[in-house]
Amino acid sequence: VILTQDELKKIAAYKAVEYVESGMVLGLGTGSTAKHAVNRIGELLRQGKLKNIIGIPTSKMTHEQAVSLGIPLSNLDSHPVVDLAIDGADEVDPYLNLVKGRGGSLLREKMVEGACRKFVVIVDESKLVKHLGGSGLAMPVEIVPFCWKFTAHRLQKLFEEAGCVAKLRTFGENEEPFVTDNKNYIVDLYFKKDIGNLKVASDAILRLAGVVEHGMFLDMATTVIVAGELGVTVKNK
Ligand code: A5P
Repeated sequence: VILTQDELKKIAAYKAVEYVESGMVLGLGTGSTAKHAVNRIGELLRQGKLKNIIGIPTSKMTHEQAVSLGIPLSNLDSHPVVDLAIDGADEVDPYLNLVKGRGGSLLREKMVEGACRKFVVIVDESKLVKHLGGSGLAMPVEIVPFCWKFTAHRLQKLFEEAGCVAKLRTFGENEEPFVTDNKNYIVDLYFKKDIGNLKVASDAILRLAGVVEHGMFLDMATTVIVAGELGVTVKNK
C-alpha cells in the first residue's frame, strides 16, 4: 500500500499520543500533523481512556480545536511546567534541531515547548533534512509590524553570504500582510547556501531590534517520531 502524506502524519501523531498519561499538562501543537494528535487526545478523553488532562494550546487555531473536542485548557501563567508537548515541524536535522512556523505560530510554540519536560515532534519523512534552511523553503522570523521593511532588510543583510532573500509573508489576492496570533508579521528567509553554525545564526537574528522570535528550534526536541513508507522510526535525543 502507498500511504498519503496525511496518513503518514496521522500515524506519527497517534504514536506520539501513546506517550500521554492521565494527569498530564500537555502542550498542544499547531498544524496539519499536530491536529491529528489533538483529535486523538480528545477521542481518548471522551472514551475515558485518558483523564485529568490539561491542554496548553500553541495557537488560537489549536485553542478552538481543543475547545470543540472538550479538552480542558489552561496557559503558561497558571501552568508554567508542561509535562509533554506534541507538535509537528517543517524541517528536522540529524541532531533533532527543527524549523517551525510555516503555519505561523512559532512564538507560542517556542514558549510552550521551551517550558516542557518532554517535547515529542511528529513528522512524515519528507521533513527530514541534512541542514536546516537548506531545503529551499522558508525560515520564518516573527517581527513587529513597525517599519517591517527595515527589519526585513537587516535580516537579509545578516545572511548576505548565504544569498538570503527576505520576503514578508502575505495572504490573499491583495497580498495583505499575514498577521500572527500576537499581532506581528512574519518575514520568510530563503537561502541559496548553507547558513553555517545554527546557534550563531540564531543569536544574530535575535539580537536585531524588531525581531520577536525565529523558527529555529535548536536543542529543544527530546524525541522525533518519523512516519515513512517503511514504517515508524523513533529518534531520541
Ligand atoms: C506552525 O506554525 C508550525 O510550526 C507547524 O507546527 C509546522 O509548520 C508543521 O506543520 P504541518 O504539520 O502542517 O506540516
